[in-house]
Amino acid sequence: MENKWNVLVTGGAGYIGSHTVLELIKQDFPVVVIDNLGNAHKDPNASKPECLLRVEKLASKSVIFEECDITDINGIEKLFKKYKFQCVIHFAALKAVGESCQKPLEYYKTNVGGTLNLLQVMKDNNVKNLIYSSSATVYGIPEKLPLTEEMKTGNCTNPYGNTKFIVEEILKDLCASDKSWSVISLRYFNPVGAHPSGEIGEDPNGIPNNLMPFIAQVAVGKRDILYVYGDDYDTPDGTGVRDYIHIMDLAVGHVKAIIYQSSRDVKGFKPVNLGTGRGFSVLEMIKAFEKASDKKLNYKIVERRPGDVSSSYADASLAKKEFDWIATKNIDDMCADTWNWQRKNPNGFKSL
Ligand SMILES: NC(=O)c1ccc[n+]([C@@H]2O[C@H](COP(=O)([O-])OP(=O)(O)OC[C@H]3O[C@@H](n4cnc5c(N)ncnc54)[C@H](O)[C@@H]3O)[C@@H](O)[C@H]2O)c1
Repeated sequence: MENKWNVLVTGGAGYIGSHTVLELIKQDFPVVVIDNLGNAHKDPNASKPECLLRVEKLASKSVIFEECDITDINGIEKLFKKYKFQCVIHFAALKAVGESCQKPLEYYKTNVGGTLNLLQVMKDNNVKNLIYSSSATVYGIPEKLPLTEEMKTGNCTNPYGNTKFIVEEILKDLCASDKSWSVISLRYFNPVGAHPSGEIGEDPNGIPNNLMPFIAQVAVGKRDILYVYGDDYDTPDGTGVRDYIHIMDLAVGHVKAIIYQSSRDVKGFKPVNLGTGRGFSVLEMIKAFEKASDKKLNYKIVERRPGDVSSSYADASLAKKEFDWIATKNIDDMCADTWNWQRKNPNGFKSL
């Protein structure tokens, strides 16, 4: 029987975190979630962020929540005194590419500084198993496709990407200095979709940064028009191509990674791609969403955005080999589940 580790989930009230917490507690992993609520909604009188209340309902199980900011090392220390952990899944970060260009210091402080705090406290408490939320963005401008884990990283096109790359470098150095660390860096491609119930999903603050929530908000009438940034890329229809991965597949990927880490004596730094291995263009995504929602989407082609690459998709064979994980959901599932969530929750987790 596999070992059920006690897991600390940082940023567990966010989009990827909440779906992963659901899968973890469904599989009986004892979970403590921390979040500073910077990008998560909690009603003033509620005990937990709304998404976690819904996760508990979906799983018929409970989860411990503590409000804590990873830039506050004393807060993290207190947490490690209060609870025992065997593993940390580290989602907490700022993630808006555009904003990272305007506020680089905040991004370095949270994403790099916050991670250093966490690693220091983990080390002091001899907790040396980490699953880190990395991103395909660490590959910078792809030299070749599909992207495999041994390809060069760095040369990222924005400060957000740099923070993910720098943290990976720190983790490599840490693992080289102390062979008892086990770090799995999951390089996500483009997470989209929602839990099929429509109870939890992506709830971006302000103008969405990513294509799918933007499409969904146009479809539900919250925004008038979708801008497509460039149709002169070297792709079949000229629009950018990305490897979209359903959020539930991604969540299961984390559980498989933790089972792998806890059931074998794996040490060192291990980057693993989580993607489908297939790219879809912006126009293909629009078409699929129109089908799922039965709505015509108003869109306009505009100039390319600086820093966007033309195509990016994963070689996802390592995740299959090591974790026995493959993406099971297709583009129609991604669009149908996004639409279901958006339709049921036009204002996200807020009741108004
Ligand atoms: N969504 C994507 O497209 C994508 C792609 C690749 C990698 N990632 C990475 O995955 C992770 C999760 O992303 P997400 O999409 O769920 O984002 P999200 O914003 O929904 O979730 C992040 C959570 O972290 C919390 N947080 C932020 N700063 C914090 C701090 N200082 N202390 C404590 N909590 C803090 C936020 O309140 C939020 O609930 C991030 O590390 C992100 O960089 C996301």
